[in-house]
Amino acid sequence: MRVFTLFATAAASAMLSGCGSPKPNTEPTPPATSAQPGAAPETTAVAAGKAIFQANCIACHGANGKGIGKGKPDFTDAEWQAKESDEELLEVIANGHEKMPAFGDKLTEEQRKEVLAYVRTFPTQQP
Ligand code: HEC
Repeated sequence: MRVFTLFATAAASAMLSGCGSPKPNTEPTPPATSAQPGAAPETTAVAAGKAIFQANCIACHGANGKGIGKGKPDFTDAEWQAKESDEELLEVIANGHEKMPAFGDKLTEEQRKEVLAYVRTFPTQQP
């Protein structure tokens, strides 16, 4: 019994010193907002935006972002992207413009930002 007690004491003190000794925390804490651990917040937003785009936008804008039929901007055109500010595009997505329907009541502000983040990736997507 005595041997057991000694062993238990030794094990307990080993555990204590293991847990108790201050160890420098070198690992960065992942951002709390990231849905997938380790994924950059931007990547997560683009992935969410892609799903939103496929559910709501491809009927008119096409899966490739070039637009189906007349009157839609070509999202793959980097020059078009460069002259449109985020504010303008978020405004159109929320409130609509000409034949572009308003999504202000269908998508939350965060979802509208996510779908725009995805729209911004079209010029760099592989065909
Ligand atoms: C019913 C067809 C239709 C659907 C669905 C649609 N769009 Fe559009 N979208 C258009 C048309 C048409 C235009 C061009 C409007 C114009 O002349 O200003 C446009 C323009 C845009 C523009 C450019 C606005 C600008 O200032 O040039 C963006 C960005 C856009 N759409 C994003 C989206 C997103 C994101 C979705 C899905 C959430 C979506 N659209 C769904 C038809 C559509």
